[in-house]
Amino acid sequence: MRRDERLMRAAHPLAYPLLQAVHGPVRRVPGIGVVVKDAALARAVLLDGAAFSKRGRGASSDLWTPVLGPSVLVNMHGDDHRALRRRLAPIFAPGFVEPLVERTLGAGAAELERRLAAGERVDLAAHARRSASAAIALLVGLDEAAVDERLFRQVTAITGMVRLSRPRFSPAQVRRARAVLDELGEHAAAAYRGDESTVPGRLRALGLSQQEALSAVGAFVLTGTETIVAALPRIVALLADSGTLGELADDAAAERAIAEGLRWTTPTPVMLRATLEERRIGPVRVRPGDRVVIATYAADRGAGGFDPASDRAAALKQLWFGAGAHFCIGAPLAMAQLRLALAALRRVEAEGRRIRVVERRPARGQLLPALASCVLEARA
Ligand code: HEM
Repeated sequence: MRRDERLMRAAHPLAYPLLQAVHGPVRRVPGIGVVVKDAALARAVLLDGAAFSKRGRGASSDLWTPVLGPSVLVNMHGDDHRALRRRLAPIFAPGFVEPLVERTLGAGAAELERRLAAGERVDLAAHARRSASAAIALLVGLDEAAVDERLFRQVTAITGMVRLSRPRFSPAQVRRARAVLDELGEHAAAAYRGDESTVPGRLRALGLSQQEALSAVGAFVLTGTETIVAALPRIVALLADSGTLGELADDAAAERAIAEGLRWTTPTPVMLRATLEERRIGPVRVRPGDRVVIATYAADRGAGGFDPASDRAAALKQLWFGAGAHFCIGAPLAMAQLRLALAALRRVEAEGRRIRVVERRPARGQLLPALASCVLEARA
């Protein structure tokens, strides 16, 4: 079985083969919903806010409202959603995010570079988990000294409960998720009362109430950590395996390679919507109450095989980050983190070493398909 296939099946032994087996660009699958595998049709659904919503039966709100409360972007729709996006936008402005990433994750990236350049073996998945935990700490206003992998495990314990066939959490699962978020929330509340150097402090300065800020932080933690941990090691492994890491001559080439890596891996393989108004998606008629499952992974891969020198990714307009009103608000933060790590690895290669993956193992029981370990070595 191919590596990708093993990785996807390790995370979703039932849902992945089921979605792969769906034929054609769009099809109704009993018990799952209307599955959309074509990029243009997926985009049309995402851009049609009148007919398709993240709030409603079988969509994201069923999962996240009991855990995060009613107003956390991922479960909102229409004017309220637009208004909150506008208020949160400054948090993710590249000018705010890039120095923040450099300050929080710069030392870790430098350590990664130093160890590889010294000929040591380094587990990039562990590095990504530590970086993600440092990012969580930043988001909730935790002291850096408190950063460890436990934070990451706590977050994936929540997201790991999500299954395509299970549109909502059980009461016991909601209690478990709330316990983790309440603990993080205590730190966030203290940071909210502090200065603007933390995200909660900055949210206060932007005029959000404490409750609004804590809900936003909870959503950022759940959406913005596992995604990076899933993306970084897989993208680097793709580039190392294809021998193209050393060919990234400049930042523009690195940017193309990140886009192509995101396209090919599609770290969040599925997006969900509830139908509000009758529509046709290609040949399939959908009615209010129908659940739409956008198989982003299949849609992105429809553009062709992995080739970091190609412009296959460009035509998809970053579908891996979504489209329309709910387009990933954290994309500048994700890109800053990916650029930082890739730049460190490119410098190692520029010194005449060749980075290889010497060991890898897929993660199990997580929401997002990822490598649990991805050991790199740079040989001269
Ligand atoms: C490679 C990394 C990432 C990928 C592939 C990714 C992917 C996505 C996608 C596909 C969506 C749209 C979902 C939909 O329409 O149903 C989304 C939304 C979102 N993402 Fe990301 N994401 C990443 C990183 C991040 C980071 C670092 C954050 C930081 C906080 C973040 C926060 C969010 C939030 C809050 C939303 C909801 C936006 C809304 O509903 O208005 N994401 N992301």
